[in-house]
Amino acid sequence: MRIGVLTGGSDSPGMNAAIRAVVRTSDLYGYQVMGIHHGWQGMMQGRMELMANKAVSGIIQRGGTILSTSRLDPFEEEEGFEKLMKAAERARIDALIAVGGIETMKVLPELAKRGLKVIGIPKTIDNDVGETDNCIGFDTAVQGICDALDKLHTTAASHDRVMIVEVMGGDTGWLALYGGMAGGADWIMIPEIPTSLEELNEHLVGRRRRGRNFSIVVVAEGAVITDIPKAEEGSVEMLSIGLRLHASLERLYGWETRSLVLGHLQRGGSPTVFDRNLATLLSVKAVRLLREGAGDIMVGFRNNDTVPVDLDKVLKVSPRHVSRDLYEIAKIFY
Ligand code: F6P
Repeated sequence: MRIGVLTGGSDSPGMNAAIRAVVRTSDLYGYQVMGIHHGWQGMMQGRMELMANKAVSGIIQRGGTILSTSRLDPFEEEEGFEKLMKAAERARIDALIAVGGIETMKVLPELAKRGLKVIGIPKTIDNDVGETDNCIGFDTAVQGICDALDKLHTTAASHDRVMIVEVMGGDTGWLALYGGMAGGADWIMIPEIPTSLEELNEHLVGRRRRGRNFSIVVVAEGAVITDIPKAEEGSVEMLSIGLRLHASLERLYGWETRSLVLGHLQRGGSPTVFDRNLATLLSVKAVRLLREGAGDIMVGFRNNDTVPVDLDKVLKVSPRHVSRDLYEIAKIFY
């Protein structure tokens, strides 16, 4: 059997551990692996090569993806799926393993319908793919947020300031909640549960009354803040909700505030032990499932185990949102 492997969408720490595990496990069973560069875009262009065991030496600790990635969406490309099927045929690929987020998973059933055996492996620092408890990269990103909050605490406390930290998460609050909870955030704003500037101000006043002279606020990039004023057209605050929050807290309520956008720092660097092992386990399982003849599935991680899950089901429950209870738990520590 010849297995194609690609990484799609945004990069995520642990993708290399996944590629390594696909190559090494395939080698064990005598299968060939065709590494496809630059995701769907590269596949359409035929940018691929056979990968020997040696090609994945020394990459488990490296962030990013040695195969590179792209955001090209085959649904938006003229005859996108025909081009992908032709590329698979030309390269004599019997099965495809795609390491990606929701957008990548959406593509897989279309290829399965056309006769290609496909298996998805969930990765995204946003952790919002359905039918899996964890996605590759999330743990590393949360660790990065926590490290940042640890550092920010000392400087915020020294100056009695409000520190706003914007984290990724356009649709879901996983990064904000897990990062904030681990790093001792004093207020967290997420897309799933609307909050207001007014509530935040009252909370900051209450903290000050209790002798807490500084506060760390974590805000997800897609957080819903009901009463935040619109940014002026063309202003730098238009670019980031963290900056808008910063400006509003100072202008409307007079808090001495500083802010930062953690941005792509959250996606860079070496994967944690958890992400390396998660990527390894999911990928070994993917190759074993192909060996058993399975296809049109994603390998999920549930209750500490790797499990095959139906792709249609995955797409039905994606993006996977945080629960109200998790939000309430984080609030206990404000
Ligand atoms: O990895 C997912 C994600 O981090 C989103 O939370 C974010 O909006 C997006 O990627 C930004 O990625 P890029 O700048 O690469 O388009």
